[in-house]
Amino acid sequence: MNSAVPSLPAAKIAEAAAQLKAGELVAFPTETVYGLGADASNADAVRKVFAAKGRPADHPLIVHIADTVQLANWAREIPQAVHTLAQKFWPGPLTLVLKRHPNVLDAVTGGQDTVAIRMPSHPVAQALLRAFGGGVAAPSANRFGRVSSTTAAHVREEFGDTVACVLDGGATDVGIESTIIDCSGEAPALLRPGMITPQQIEAVLGAPVAVPLAGSPRASGMLDKHYAPQTPLMQMEGDLVVELAHSLVRQGKRVAVLARTRLQPLLDNLIWIAAPADAAGYAHDLYANLRTLDHAGCDAILVEQPPDETLWLAIRDRLNRAAAGSGGAENV
Ligand code: TXA
Ligand code: MG
Repeated sequence: MNSAVPSLPAAKIAEAAAQLKAGELVAFPTETVYGLGADASNADAVRKVFAAKGRPADHPLIVHIADTVQLANWAREIPQAVHTLAQKFWPGPLTLVLKRHPNVLDAVTGGQDTVAIRMPSHPVAQALLRAFGGGVAAPSANRFGRVSSTTAAHVREEFGDTVACVLDGGATDVGIESTIIDCSGEAPALLRPGMITPQQIEAVLGAPVAVPLAGSPRASGMLDKHYAPQTPLMQMEGDLVVELAHSLVRQGKRVAVLARTRLQPLLDNLIWIAAPADAAGYAHDLYANLRTLDHAGCDAILVEQPPDETLWLAIRDRLNRAAAGSGGAENV
């Protein structure tokens, strides 16, 4: 999957960087999902991000940087754990929450005393950040609560003409959002699971990663309902998927299935996607699969539950939130 990540002509990158400097929004690929970027030091530009997403102002944004030297522009304290994690995992799908530098805008942090920072590895993101020179505040490029975008076409589907500049860097590699670790407190704490697991973080730090307590910094990705298709989505074991699909089709319903096997029952009105067997492949395709199934005009999306294993933690997290946020699952 790491092969053939597209880069873009320097002129295209320069044009996008100029848009950022002019206070406009630029959607760009990262290795996780597409981001909707704005100049993090321009409050008006940052407000445009919230307006375009329909996101409440108290849900803070991640500041994307090109290099660790920029950390000190955004954070007032850089604990050893941050140096260690940055050295091991940056550039890459890890976001670190730090005590904010006094210059960081309230519009970015939602008024909190902390700021989330990430150095993405995607060559287009890297090129944009280097050409721009500053920090780029960027949430995932989707409307609030909806499925994140893993292609430029998804971004256009979400925002239409509202976002003029969309850099197309192909399908993203990881496919789900970065792991977020809060490094602003006594002990590092996991705020959002991602494909870098807590075990990997613990192994590098040589210390346990805490489970967050109530009152710690909030993360909108931590809402119970998120990443949600409009079609009701339910998770269950594989044999139940087949049983329920049969029974719903018999009742005249159309059914979409995200399965882990290609052995699909022969039924009319059944859309069946066999997801990749490995966690990395599953994550890579997850949001595109959810979009495809959501657009199929079905009465329900049935998802075969992935294994209850560490490697699948972030995928299970996204599926649980997609189920919670999807349209009236109890009504199917
Ligand atoms: O992979 C990613 O992280 C993608 C790409 C574009 O970088 N970005 C992304 O952004 O997922 P967003 O805004 O969709 O999710 C960022 C999460 C939100 O849940 C937000 O609440 C949390 O990070 N966050 C931001 N600043 C925070 C802070 N100071 N403390 C705690 N959580 C914070
Ligand atoms: Mg998001």
